[in-house]
Amino acid sequence: MIVPTENIPRYPDSYWLKDIKIPSFNTLDETIKTEVVIVGGGITGISTAYFLSQQGKKVVLIDAGKLLAGTTGHTTAKITVQHSLIYDEIINHFGVEEAKLYYEANNEALQFIRNIVTKYDIDCNFETEDAYLFTNDDDYIEKLQLEQKAYEQIGLKHELVKELPLNIPVKAALKVPNQANFHPLKYLATLIEKCVENGVSFYENTTAMDIEYMKHPAVIVNNDHRIIAEHVIIASHYPFYDLKGLYPTRMYADRSYIIAMTSEEKYPGGMYISAENPVRSIRSTKTANGEELWLVGGEGHKVGQGKPMFDHYNALFQYADLHFNPKQFLYRWSAQDLITLDHLPYIGPITKSEDNIYIATGFRKWGMTNGTIAGKIISDLIITDGENKYKHVFSPSRKVTKEAVKNFVKYNTDVAKHLIKGKMEYQTTKADIKKEEATIVRLRGIRAGVYRDETDKLHIVNTTCTHLGCEVNWNEAEKTWDCPCHGSRFSYTGEVVEGPAKENLEVLEE
Ligand code: FES
Repeated sequence: MIVPTENIPRYPDSYWLKDIKIPSFNTLDETIKTEVVIVGGGITGISTAYFLSQQGKKVVLIDAGKLLAGTTGHTTAKITVQHSLIYDEIINHFGVEEAKLYYEANNEALQFIRNIVTKYDIDCNFETEDAYLFTNDDDYIEKLQLEQKAYEQIGLKHELVKELPLNIPVKAALKVPNQANFHPLKYLATLIEKCVENGVSFYENTTAMDIEYMKHPAVIVNNDHRIIAEHVIIASHYPFYDLKGLYPTRMYADRSYIIAMTSEEKYPGGMYISAENPVRSIRSTKTANGEELWLVGGEGHKVGQGKPMFDHYNALFQYADLHFNPKQFLYRWSAQDLITLDHLPYIGPITKSEDNIYIATGFRKWGMTNGTIAGKIISDLIITDGENKYKHVFSPSRKVTKEAVKNFVKYNTDVAKHLIKGKMEYQTTKADIKKEEATIVRLRGIRAGVYRDETDKLHIVNTTCTHLGCEVNWNEAEKTWDCPCHGSRFSYTGEVVEGPAKENLEVLEE
């Protein structure tokens, strides 16, 4: 059954960002010195700033846009060690000890968040919940059994169940008790407040463009000022300093979707995620006026690739309509995540030779715990001069597994395919498009993207991505130009919405 268009929110809008006012900060307009500069104002950057400033470090944090407006503002905000199917895979590629450390690191992050919420009495809807990884697909029952065996090997408390509290068809599920969820931005707004009290300086609308080395590294920002520091932490999701360490060849960007609705039914508690594709992820939260909001997510795909983007939202609306008796669909939004070659995050020095520049990225959609533990690991590396018991698990220079080599070939063949395909594909006729629609045309020999806004005005951009030259594609669900190679996204007027690109698309005249 198709959900009628009039019942669907017209524009994307994250509930988390609607529900709270985040403080604003100035743009950096001078060259400054500090001990640590952090690039990126999401959960990773802010947690790192918190941990370091608690230890008396002088910290500056910059963000290219507004704090928390990136992936952290668009997450499902589950705080759990149950990261889909992962532990059996880690055991196969790295061994039981590494899988156990991955689990312990994420469990430590869960306890950090829990303790911080208690310590500052943060009103952020923090709820302890059971997490369920379920399948309704016969082919996945064995995978779930292998994951269960991995849970046993690493000592992760769980139960194998055949039914869920939630009314959806299921053949088996792994239940992990005592996990949690929260309103991520209410939690992080308090951390920002604590950071400010600890002397952290925040700057917004300040884009890191490059790093230069004199005696100390300096981050060069878009207005050519510098932040000279002893340590640089890149927590900007996609590392802006990406060609060191060849990060464009080691990760891909994946986009997924969330809808928020009220229901005629009472939410039975719990957080759920399917083991099979297309992924279905379900949790709930209470709004300020006590209304229960069901969050239904999933439909991940490589950025800028695959079917029309709105089809992904439609699949979630239909799924919710089929199973959860919706009263009203209130919000829809999407998030972008990075996935590494071996599916473990990269947290630590960006390359072996640059041990005072750190990155934290590739959280595979599990950023609440991975982002928090990244903050702890990097702050430990700085404060204790290189010591943290998890550092080798997450090290960006860790051993390369056979699986990683296979994925390296797969990711980069895909990038090469899109680089060539994008250059060859365009419509040659003049744009004949309706309001709020876009198309690709050839304009004076250039592949150009044309969008007609609601006032009939045409916006024309050169579709060559300013990162490494692939051709962007139209995303009609978010009204952005998305790059299929490394996931940069641009508004219809050409401005960078999401990196790694730092420069806007070229605006063309008709
Ligand atoms: Fe790398 Fe576009 S994001 S080429």
